[in-house]
Amino acid sequence: MATDRRKFLKQFGTSVILTSASLSSLAAREEHEKRILQAEKRISSNDKIRIATIGMGIMGFNDTRAALSVPGVELVACADLYKGRLDRAKEVFNPNIFTTADYREILNRKDIDAVIVATSDNWHSAISIDAMRKGKAVYSEKPMVHHISEGLNEIKTQHETKAVFQVGSQRVSSIAFKKAQELYQAGAIGKINAVEASFSRHSALGAWQYTIPLDASAQTVGWDQFQANSNIKHGYDSNRFFRWRNYREYGTGVAGDLFVHLLSGIHFITGSKGPDKIFAIGGLTYWKDGRNVPDVMSAVISYPETPEHAAFQTTLRVNFVSGEGERSSTKIIGSEGVIDMSDGGGFTLQKNKMPVAPGYGGWDAFETYPEAMQKAIVEEYNKKYSAADRQTPKVDDVVYREPEGYNDSNEHFANFFDSMRTGKPVVEDAVFGFRAAAPCLACNDSYFENKIIKWDPVGMKLG
Ligand SMILES: NC(=O)c1ccc[n+]([C@@H]2O[C@H](COP(=O)([O-])OP(=O)(O)OC[C@H]3O[C@@H](n4cnc5c(N)ncnc54)[C@H](O)[C@@H]3O)[C@@H](O)[C@H]2O)c1
Repeated sequence: MATDRRKFLKQFGTSVILTSASLSSLAAREEHEKRILQAEKRISSNDKIRIATIGMGIMGFNDTRAALSVPGVELVACADLYKGRLDRAKEVFNPNIFTTADYREILNRKDIDAVIVATSDNWHSAISIDAMRKGKAVYSEKPMVHHISEGLNEIKTQHETKAVFQVGSQRVSSIAFKKAQELYQAGAIGKINAVEASFSRHSALGAWQYTIPLDASAQTVGWDQFQANSNIKHGYDSNRFFRWRNYREYGTGVAGDLFVHLLSGIHFITGSKGPDKIFAIGGLTYWKDGRNVPDVMSAVISYPETPEHAAFQTTLRVNFVSGEGERSSTKIIGSEGVIDMSDGGGFTLQKNKMPVAPGYGGWDAFETYPEAMQKAIVEEYNKKYSAADRQTPKVDDVVYREPEGYNDSNEHFANFFDSMRTGKPVVEDAVFGFRAAAPCLACNDSYFENKIIKWDPVGMKLG
C-alpha cells in the first residue's frame, strides 16, 4: 500500500494543476488520495501506541481526540493543574485512565510511549525537554517556546535524545497547504514579493475571555506549580489561571499564539527559514480586563532573498475588535498571481500575468494631450508593441477545497504517529517550530521595546 501511495503521490506531484480543465478530476483524485492515506494507516491491533496528555484544557481535549482518531492509539493518563479537568477527562475518555497534577508522574511511567504537551505556553519547553530526556516521543503545542532563549536548548535536547518530536501547527500537515506549496513551487504566482496574513475576531470568547468554573480557587488549582517557572509571582487569580493567554507571564500574546499559525503556513509554502527584520505595533483598545497584552497588533516583517525564495515582505495582523466577526486570511502574492488561503478549508489561485504593453487611455495622462500628440503616441505605440504584446494572458482561477470531513489536526497526529512507527522524519521538527515561533516572539519584543528586531534565521539567533 505504501508503494501504491508513493506511486500515486509521484503522479500527483508531477501534474501541475493550473487550469480549470485539469481541475475537473481534482475531487476524484482527492478521494483517491484520502483512501490511500487511510489504508496506509491501518495497523495491526497489537501495535499500540500509548499516550498521555499533559495539560487537559481546551486544546488538550481537542488534541487527545485528534490523536485517538489514529488507529492503534490509546490514552492511558493525563495531567492537569485543575482537578475538574482531570475528572472531565475520565468522563470523556475512560474512567480508568491515570490522572495526576504532577506531570513528572506521567514521565516516570514506563507504559507511556508519547506525550502531548498542551499546557499554557510557559510550560511547553520545560515539559517537552523533560519528556524527551525520559525517552518519550513528544507532540508539543505551538508556540514551541515561551521565550526565544529556550529554543536552541530544546533543539539540542532533541538532537541528543533523538526523540520523535513534533510541534503542533497543524497547517504543516494540511492537504490544502500542501497543494498550495506544490503550486507555489511550480511557479504559479511567479516571483513572490509579499504576504498578507491576519486573524480577525469580534467576541469575548474570541478575545480569550474563557468560562471560569465556579469552584476555581487556590484549593482546586495547582497555582504554585502553574507559575513555578515565572520570575514574577502573583497571588492566586482565577483570571490568570483560566485566561492565561492574556498575561505575558504565561502566554505569548496574539503574536505567539496566532501569528505563529500564519508564519508556520507561510514558511511551509515558501520553504523559508524565516525573516531577518521584524517590527510590530499594537495596542489594548477594547478588552481592558486586566490583560497585559495587546488586542490589536500589526507586524511588518522582511524576508531576505535566499536560495529558497526571492525577497518578500510580510504583514501580519490580529484584531480582536475587528468589527466584522471571525475571519482569517493568508495571501501569498507574486508577480503573476496570488494564492488566497482566506478562511481555511482550501484556497483560490488567481493568475494575473501583466501584458508586455503598458496600455494607454482610461485613467491615464493620454487624454490630457492635444489631438495631434495623441495620434503620434498611438502610431509609435502600434509600432512598438505587437498584438500579442497587448494581450492580457487569460487563465482561469484555480479553486481548491479540502475533501469533505477532512481535518488537518487528525492528519498532523497521523503524521506524528507514523514517524514513531516507521522512523520517518516528523513533518514539523524543532528547527521548523522554532523558526516559526521566534519571529513571532520577536514581534512582542519589538512592540514592548519599541524597536526593530534583527534575527538570523539560519543560525536562529537574535542580531
Ligand atoms: N494548534 C492549535 O490550533 C491550538 C489551538 C488552541 C490552543 N493551542 C495551544 O494549546 C495550548 C493550550 O491551550 P488551551 O486553550 O487548551 O489552554 P487551557 O487553559 O484551556 O488549558 C491549559 C491547561 O494546561 C494546564 N497546565 C498548565 N501548566 C501545567 C503544568 N505545569 N502541568 C500540568 N498541567 C498544566 C492547565 O491546568 C490548563 O488546564 C496553548 O499553548 C495554545 O497555544 C493550539
